[in-house]
Amino acid sequence: MRTIDWVDGAVELIDQTRLPDECVALRITTVDELIDAIRRLAVRGAPALGVAGALGVVLSGGDPEAVARLRAARPTAVNLAWGVDQAAAWLAQGREAVLEAALRIRDEDIAACLAMGERGADLLTSGVLTSEVLTSGVLTSEVLTPGVLTSGGPGSGGPGPGARSSGPPVPDRADRGLRIMTICNTGGLAAVERGTALGVAQTLHERGRLAEVLALETRPLLQGARLTAWELGRMGAPHRLVADGAGPYLLARGDVDAVLVGADRIAANGDTANKIGTYALALGAARAGVPFVVVAPETTIDFATPTGAGIEIEDRGAEEIVTLRGTRLAPEGTDAVNPAFDVTPHDLITAIVTDKRVIRP
Ligand code: MRU
Repeated sequence: MRTIDWVDGAVELIDQTRLPDECVALRITTVDELIDAIRRLAVRGAPALGVAGALGVVLSGGDPEAVARLRAARPTAVNLAWGVDQAAAWLAQGREAVLEAALRIRDEDIAACLAMGERGADLLTSGVLTSEVLTSGVLTSEVLTPGVLTSGGPGSGGPGPGARSSGPPVPDRADRGLRIMTICNTGGLAAVERGTALGVAQTLHERGRLAEVLALETRPLLQGARLTAWELGRMGAPHRLVADGAGPYLLARGDVDAVLVGADRIAANGDTANKIGTYALALGAARAGVPFVVVAPETTIDFATPTGAGIEIEDRGAEEIVTLRGTRLAPEGTDAVNPAFDVTPHDLITAIVTDKRVIRP
């Protein structure tokens, strides 16, 4: 089934809090139920939140207070507010018009994810990922559409002391396929049918060009361990799970050909908010000279936010850190800080692959 859809007059979505143990659908008929599902992360991932927001406007019956609460259910992924706004713009035309707009957003997401998968896989296999490029950490400009997001700096500036330029030659990737590192869940569960960054890995796998996915488990809610591993297993794609803290070390050790991540919001200068831990991967990738590629639909670019400093980062509270699925981990009374996302500055990003283009910040 689709991650989220409109079925017989209601929103139906896979309850992601119950994966991987069971794959069950939630049927949602009110905005309050939808807000609860969004806050509990029963539905999550920027593109899926965009579709949820749009379908939620249909459920709202046009009540402005309900629409406003839905729009603010989670603050970081711009797609939620965008989806709500897109659908709400049709309210004056009546419910059917709103529903049609929401279903268009659903269908456009399906097409966008397919396009990103192809474009991202083309980029990674087009020969630009030569050892020469890997040692510079920057993709060559020929394959890139030059900058709509142009206010950024010149790129990562080359390898640090631990980069591959001084190490052994990069093995022949054409023979063994690509080793991809990723974080959180950017697969079909984060969108409607196929995903963004994980959609690129899926396309590589379908082309016989994927060696393996190294998936970070993604504390505290384990989207990598619970959701990405589940999706990769269903795809039949080779994968191994990695503790979050091991990511930068595996990059330094030369175990990874490219890091692929999704995005919750891309500021106008290319700074990118994504799941907490992404920034550490970007730093590790720059140091190791490994391409760091963001894969996200155009709808995740927020031109109204000039830089990453303006992106609101959701804090989900201490409970998710000091407990794990109902089991207390830390001593009673321990406080915690729990930013759900971080911001990767554009100068650590090798390229942004969207459904329309490849952007070099
Ligand atoms: O808190 P989540 O699970 O909604 O966070 C999701 C992410 O950070 C994803 O990487 C992002 O939304 C892109 S999904 C294609």
